[in-house]
Amino acid sequence: MRTIWWESGMVKMIDQRLLPGRLEIVAYDDYRDVARAITDMVIRGAPAIGAAGAYGMALAARQSSAQDRDGLLRDLRQAKEVLDAARPTAVNLSWATTRLLKVAERPDLTDVEAIRSALLAEAERVAEEDIAINKRMGAYGAEVIPHGARILHHCNTGSLATVDYGTALGVIRAAHEQGKQIHVWVDETRPRLQGARLTAWELMRDGIPMTLIADNAAGHLMRTGQVDVVLFGADRVAANGDVANKIGTYKLAVCAKENGIPCYAVVPTSTIDLSLPDGDHIPIEERVPEEVTMIDGVRIAPEGVRVYNPAFDITPYRYLTGIITEEGIAYPPFRESLRRLKEAAEARIWSDR
Ligand code: MRU
Repeated sequence: MRTIWWESGMVKMIDQRLLPGRLEIVAYDDYRDVARAITDMVIRGAPAIGAAGAYGMALAARQSSAQDRDGLLRDLRQAKEVLDAARPTAVNLSWATTRLLKVAERPDLTDVEAIRSALLAEAERVAEEDIAINKRMGAYGAEVIPHGARILHHCNTGSLATVDYGTALGVIRAAHEQGKQIHVWVDETRPRLQGARLTAWELMRDGIPMTLIADNAAGHLMRTGQVDVVLFGADRVAANGDVANKIGTYKLAVCAKENGIPCYAVVPTSTIDLSLPDGDHIPIEERVPEEVTMIDGVRIAPEGVRVYNPAFDITPYRYLTGIITEEGIAYPPFRESLRRLKEAAEARIWSDR
């Protein structure tokens, strides 16, 4: 199931706010609407946001009325700023828009039409690569999943969080495809319930055995020996291996270590941000109070209550057994292993030009 694609001059995507009740597709022909869709979480999940940013840049190139290269580059830089501001934590967004801008700035592309087609081709490449990358991560990750493993998973990291297949859920898919007889504990993931609404929907569609749990049940399951591996994705990984992921991840990782359970983050190398020394430098998005005070339009807290709603938390590297990427699994010391894998990926991206 593909989450985002280009069709007839428009970016199309599944409206994830409506799932699991309705599967509806929305279409955009303006990059500003794509930015809004990212902010409003029509599309969400770090790699999916990256693909949306890439397609957004391709749209911006088509929308620009510039007649020459300089004018077009000016419009693209402005579009990049708007897209990058849509959500702050997932570095995949600015990673993708930077990659598209780099293509637009190629000195051999002097004609505006050539730049427009190069940007669309690059956006398609970012999207197609994402699927291939997820399958490679799935293959590497499945190696550390024992037969019969009971896996605890947080948020949604599946086809919906990527272009297709998924990161942590991609590892789960690969292990299932290999006949490993796994079972997944699905954290509901308050406040937006990506686990209950999206992960449960994806796993049930694929017939992967799962059980939905309230977030607060996870510690009990770990302490009573019912979890063999903890898996989650990430929106940004700092150079030292600290990871930013959906709020609640930190608690899971601490609890996993306390109970001697292996704990892995599964991320494409586009999620690794070597420019930040540690997790304290990662911007943490704060979202509106209504995500906490309401569920599906029903108020569950008193009117006027004060709310704090950070969308992500930082898990310090020492709680991670490893970080699974498309270039292999990074183990401590992460500063060296992550740099090596990131460099391998960058070389792969630019080598075939
Ligand atoms: O706020 P969301 O739903 O965009 O958060 C998503 C997550 O936290 C995922 O775990 C993360 O993006 C990695 S998924 C491939």
